[in-house]
Amino acid sequence: MVRVDKELCSRCGLCAKVCPHKLFEVRAKEVLVTADGCMACGHCRAVCPVSAVQVTDVADVLSFQTFSERTESMAPGDFETDRLVQLMRSRRSCRNYRQDVVDIEILEDLVRIGTTAPSGTNSQSWQYTILPRRKDVKSLGELTAGYYRELNSQARNPVYRLLAKIFAGDALGKYYREYYDSVQEALRQWDEEQVDRLFHGAAAAILVTGETTASCPAEDALLATQNILLAAHAMGLGSCLIGFVVEAVRRSQKMKKALGLGGTTRLYSVIALGYPAITYQHVAGRRRVQPRILHLA
Ligand SMILES: Cc1cc2nc3c(=O)[nH]c(=O)nc-3n(C[C@H](O)[C@H](O)[C@H](O)COP(=O)(O)O)c2cc1C
Repeated sequence: MVRVDKELCSRCGLCAKVCPHKLFEVRAKEVLVTADGCMACGHCRAVCPVSAVQVTDVADVLSFQTFSERTESMAPGDFETDRLVQLMRSRRSCRNYRQDVVDIEILEDLVRIGTTAPSGTNSQSWQYTILPRRKDVKSLGELTAGYYRELNSQARNPVYRLLAKIFAGDALGKYYREYYDSVQEALRQWDEEQVDRLFHGAAAAILVTGETTASCPAEDALLATQNILLAAHAMGLGSCLIGFVVEAVRRSQKMKKALGLGGTTRLYSVIALGYPAITYQHVAGRRRVQPRILHLA
């Protein structure tokens, strides 16, 4: 996957230093790639001061459609921390959307931004599904409502709860105690008043899936998801994770089939997106944390 141009190479050895798998050997007259195991992370190419290293299968240009791309790397420290943290704290889960359509180019750019996240062994085994229109989001909402209607009909049945407890633990009982009432009310509003308590009226959505055969599929998908959430805010969009849909898809064969998911592909996040109808005046507050400082002997 890696090629070193002999004519350009100055044998500085930086590629060998940064390679996670130590695949390079700096010889008197040339730099050789002497071992297998390249995961195409591209560190060698990125560090080379004379652009002598090429990595196949990796696109440097991500071809964003809604903003111009900067491909020069920022050095550590070369960004305003206060602005970054302000962006992070200004992103809130949006539960009030305008009905304006989100251009497909913006949604595609968000997916590309997702792919800039780290992934275990650089597997990048994530996939992204875009629901570009409100009607697509509503259809997924209807499928999800169907799942919860069925779950609630089981949960409200004391015999079913008892049998479930005996054979499968108390998950259904816990669901009944903690969620049944609010889900029932949300279903009523969905059916009778066309109030969307699930997607909050979002105009579009992105689903992030991963391959369970990858080394860290959940982490990969959720890191990509966080990139998308932050970028959405930067691009003027509101976003909200919809865990209720993730849960439903994981448990419902019918939903998996409708979304074309199966085999080793698993859904990790559902991101509702749209232009926010409400803007906030203050950044997010959080509980204070006291980190544990550990000096290991
Ligand atoms: C895994 C996960 C699942 C979530 N699922 C939902 C959901 O189904 N519906 C919803 O309105 N918010 C959902 N949220 C949003 C959280 O409620 C929200 O992140 C939290 O209250 C903090 O608020 P903030 O995102 O505005 O900072 C979810 C968040 C996470 C991380």
